[in-house]
Amino acid sequence: MMKILRTVEEIKAFAGTACQQGGTIGLVPTMGALHEGHLTLMREARKHCDTVIASVFVNPTQFGPNEDYEAYPRRFEEDCKKLEEVGVDAVFHPAPKEMYPEGYAAYVTVDGDLTNKLCGARRPGHFRGVATVLTKLFNLSRATDAYFGQKDAQQVVVVRRFVEDLNIPVRIHMVPISREESGLARSSRNMYLSAEEKEAALVLSRSLGKAEAAFEGGENSVEALKKVVREELGLEKLAEIDYVEIYSFPGLKEIAEVREPSLLAIAVKIGKTRLIDNVILGSER
Ligand code: PAF
Repeated sequence: MMKILRTVEEIKAFAGTACQQGGTIGLVPTMGALHEGHLTLMREARKHCDTVIASVFVNPTQFGPNEDYEAYPRRFEEDCKKLEEVGVDAVFHPAPKEMYPEGYAAYVTVDGDLTNKLCGARRPGHFRGVATVLTKLFNLSRATDAYFGQKDAQQVVVVRRFVEDLNIPVRIHMVPISREESGLARSSRNMYLSAEEKEAALVLSRSLGKAEAAFEGGENSVEALKKVVREELGLEKLAEIDYVEIYSFPGLKEIAEVREPSLLAIAVKIGKTRLIDNVILGSER
């Protein structure tokens, strides 16, 4: 039977017992509204870890004032059924006050090159909220291993940075993007899309595919590859580009040509919904 943990004391007790047993503890942090992409992370954790803890917490500190914190889908009962099916041992589902009680004042920030671009530049304070909640979740769960999706590639880079800098003893695993058959990257925010918008949203993966094909055909110029993506996105009238960027990966350095593994990342608004997607060019598959 999967345990439902709602308080800091409950997760501490659960993790304490798991720790005494001496095995590995896999944590899969989520904001819920679970889809197949999340479940892939859970299965990965289940395959490799003795104990698996999922967290379902819509973290208020990582949302900006004009973002979708209130509207973010909450489906805890459905989530529990899915987690139980993939064999998760416990789910941590705290109330916001449990994580950020009266007087809460400590935050984790990651400065510089890793956060001043891509989603970090468009969503001020976002990675501070992510790093803060994850530090708390790593401490509480005593995770030896934690699993994240490549769809949030910048998040993975930021997490690896603060885990190393703050000497947090957890291994960070990045799992490839889970896609629907149509190519659409799975995301809880896909729930916001109407049927017409969902169709329009296919332009994200299609544009990345075109750039990937150009790269594989010998095109290395960052400007030329970005142009391929922009042109394809430009054909979809419901798509409004937020960014199309290419940086070295995982360093996120500016480059003029793709000569090492590089992240081609895009953020696009389809109607009111902002979606992200990416591909890593030049990586061994
Ligand atoms: O990727 C997410 O869903 C969130 O940023 C995370 C890692 C669960 C932290 O709230």
